[in-house]
Amino acid sequence: MEIFRVLIKAPKHITDINPYVPGKPIEELERELGITGSIKLASNENPLGPSPLAIAEAQRIIASVNRYPDGGSYRLISALSLHLNVRHEEIIIGHGSNELLDIAARTFMQPGDEAVMGHPSFVVYHNSTQKVNGVPVAVALTADKRHDLKAMAAKITQKTKIVFIANPNNPTGTIVTREEFDDFMEQVRDDILVVVDEAYFEYVADSFYADSIKHFKSGKTILILRTFSKIYGLAGLRIGYGIANPEIINEMNKVREPFNTNSLAQAAAIAALTDTQHVTGSVAINEAGKAFLYGELSKMNVDFTKTQTNFIYIDVKKDAKGIYKKMLQKGMIVRPMGENALRVTVGLPEENESFIRIFKEVI
Ligand SMILES: Cc1ncc(COP(=O)(O)O)c(C=O)c1O
Repeated sequence: MEIFRVLIKAPKHITDINPYVPGKPIEELERELGITGSIKLASNENPLGPSPLAIAEAQRIIASVNRYPDGGSYRLISALSLHLNVRHEEIIIGHGSNELLDIAARTFMQPGDEAVMGHPSFVVYHNSTQKVNGVPVAVALTADKRHDLKAMAAKITQKTKIVFIANPNNPTGTIVTREEFDDFMEQVRDDILVVVDEAYFEYVADSFYADSIKHFKSGKTILILRTFSKIYGLAGLRIGYGIANPEIINEMNKVREPFNTNSLAQAAAIAALTDTQHVTGSVAINEAGKAFLYGELSKMNVDFTKTQTNFIYIDVKKDAKGIYKKMLQKGMIVRPMGENALRVTVGLPEENESFIRIFKEVI
């Protein structure tokens, strides 16, 4: 077959992007190795699956997908407005919260503008900034793997447009406390958008967790992002939401594609919101899984970071990629994080047991 050379070149700020590497899909691993029964603990998905109410709603809606979805997500925004006690015009719906990160950068940043973010943190902040030819300013986490908001505040310049804070942080599972966040919000200029990414909000048990809604209610320039991908178990449907001042939402809506979320996702999300039993059950199984994994990892004398999420950051000291690859061979998919760490999602009891067994064999 003839190979044609492509002469068009993407600009440098695009060629420089390191593509996001998702967790390896189960089907792909099983196809490659010719095995079955492998376990994926790599993408912080809810091991219980979606709420049965959400499944039923999506099934009901599938018969009418000849129609375009409601581009304004009216019913979902109304449900969220009641659920969160915020106004309709203060909510935006995204194709996952991922899309809202992108829209925030595209709406508020120009080439050369800076975005401050933690490191390691969710890599999409870096990529969304690069896509608009902005400059990512990465600030190392503290020794205990938490956002260093003082150091981040010190990195703010006249060019800063956005500060991204994952709370809790991915991949470390740590939180920013109320006091730390209040101090930070007092210092940060009002012409800077503070994006607080609360993808794992519903899992947080620590009573010191920062209250972002308080700052939104007091008129701060803040965008709070949450998702239906994690505790609500709808990652495959791609739906999340943002909360901010109506002027911020209004500008972001101009950048958003008219039909960015689909009708199945909208309907499933509304149903999922009502299923408190599913949320409570998901928290409970996660807490039990955390306790089991903490116990086993401690017995093994492995360093790990206590988490406020549904994943655990494990310090393997070296060769994280080698360990990851060996675990893959045994049908266990986790996520290597840099040279020295693995991130493992808390799964069902039997999945957690398999993880510990295979991890022991490999290290
Ligand atoms: C911190 C953080 N933010 C956002 C997301 C993306 O979630 P969504 O599926 O809503 O795009 C994730 C998913 O892994 C995440 O860890």
